[in-house]
Amino acid sequence: MAATKAWCRCPTNGMTNRTDRRKFLAQLGAAGLASAFTTVPGAFAQALVTTPEQTEGPYYPITLPLDTDNDLLVINSNITPAIGKIAYLSGRILDSSGSPIRDAHVEIWHADNTGAYIHPSSMGYATRDQNFQGFGRFLTSSTGEYLFRTIVPGLYTGRTRHIHMKIKVAGRQDLTTQVYFEGEPMNSSDGVLQGIRNTQQRSSVIVPFTAVTGSSVNAGAGVFDVVLGVTPASAVTLAITNTTAAERTPAFRAGDSWRLSLAGASAGSRIYLHLWRDGADLGVSGPYGDFADDNGGWTVTGSFGSRDVGTWRLQAVIGAATSETVSGPISITIA
Ligand SMILES: [Fe+2]
Repeated sequence: MAATKAWCRCPTNGMTNRTDRRKFLAQLGAAGLASAFTTVPGAFAQALVTTPEQTEGPYYPITLPLDTDNDLLVINSNITPAIGKIAYLSGRILDSSGSPIRDAHVEIWHADNTGAYIHPSSMGYATRDQNFQGFGRFLTSSTGEYLFRTIVPGLYTGRTRHIHMKIKVAGRQDLTTQVYFEGEPMNSSDGVLQGIRNTQQRSSVIVPFTAVTGSSVNAGAGVFDVVLGVTPASAVTLAITNTTAAERTPAFRAGDSWRLSLAGASAGSRIYLHLWRDGADLGVSGPYGDFADDNGGWTVTGSFGSRDVGTWRLQAVIGAATSETVSGPISITIA
């Protein structure tokens, strides 16, 4: 099977001019995908459901591959493509009113055909498919559209089939989420997917991948529209300080004291915390201590012990455990 790098509109090479935009649209047609943007039932209704935040997981690349374009099937100008069923993932990045967002940086990363990531902690890293790019990115134009060509990810222990996605837009919190394949038997038992409490949000991240009409190779295409929430980046902020040794923040050692500070909540709100430890989503706990004060602030202090060692992410959840008013997640390490 021949595979060539067809085009790229990615942040690294700055190919954002009109010529490349025309190539992008031509390529959509050539792939039989032009209809995908217009014929998916319920695409608009789905667009009004805010895309849920999901754990980043432990395999976001430590070192980005040399090629980070939106074609994960082929690395640079290699002849040999990745092994696996070809998958096109496309969609739009939208604001909460359904308007497309320009200049959104869309990143995806996922396992190869054998379930291995381009991350040294991944099982099978040493024997992974060297022709699979593993990570790619795309910069949206005024239509908010993105497109990736990749493969259907392999399964690895403990998870259903999924693609990780991160969306970066200037002036907003990054959104990290995951995309799932409709009809996968393990979807119903996947802890991360089923951890999305809101049923509309949960179904919004499960995408049908349908056969690409006229494709000469075994390929499927899925459409995933991303709706960013209404909460602006600066609304609620969470910060943690190492009060034993401030210069070590965000690193801590067992025995260090900490101060957790929240700003920007509504006065009188109850405060909950969403916690992840070593990539595992521990869910939302609380409420904690006092209510937010007159300025929407809240502070709590404590110290870490040896049982807390690990890599943690913390996110404030305001008002109720299921509230969508959240801070951006912060990461700390405790050694
Ligand atoms: Fe994963």
